[in-house]
Amino acid sequence: MLNEDVKKILISQEEITDRCKQLAKQISDDYSGKVPVIIGLLKGSIPFMAELIKYLSIECELEFMAVSSYSGTESMGDVRILKDLDRSIKDCDVIIVEDIVDTGKTLQKVKELLYSKGANSVKVVSLLDKPSRRIIDISAEYIGFEIPDEFVIGFGLDFNQKYRNLPYVGVLKEELYKE
Ligand code: IMP
Repeated sequence: MLNEDVKKILISQEEITDRCKQLAKQISDDYSGKVPVIIGLLKGSIPFMAELIKYLSIECELEFMAVSSYSGTESMGDVRILKDLDRSIKDCDVIIVEDIVDTGKTLQKVKELLYSKGANSVKVVSLLDKPSRRIIDISAEYIGFEIPDEFVIGFGLDFNQKYRNLPYVGVLKEELYKE
């Protein structure tokens, strides 16, 4: 059973929904009169993006990119673009959707890329933020929840590609990833 691998639930489904409503209101106010291109970073952002966009009251367009940086629970240091955008974002107002900002390397790389493609503005909405792990001085404009330095899974976040489908954010039992 998936749930048996979870040490504790950190953020419940209800808390995530409530926070998504607040963030969507804030984003809708900030982008009033604009049509932002919302770019989900595959695969971790999918559940959060799906929840968040339900509550946006503005028009928007959806796109996806895939980048890789992690294997298991540790950063490999290098960020690679696995799937690039297949349309132009020149002069567009872009909002990146992330599952978590950890070291900040992924965001830095993706932001740089989007500006180099001619985006007018690039902001970031992230479900989670782990500020204690930051290496690059970067932060998301919209943050769902700040969390301590624990390896989390669920609501899009994975451990070796599993647990993304959990409807909450939880802490993985340490014996499952530490020898
Ligand atoms: P950063 O480039 O170090 O900020 O890493 C961002 C990416 O690392 C996220 O998009 C996640 O895929 C992954 N990541 C960082 N911390 C965790 C975690 O606690 N659980 C699962 N994935 C994580």
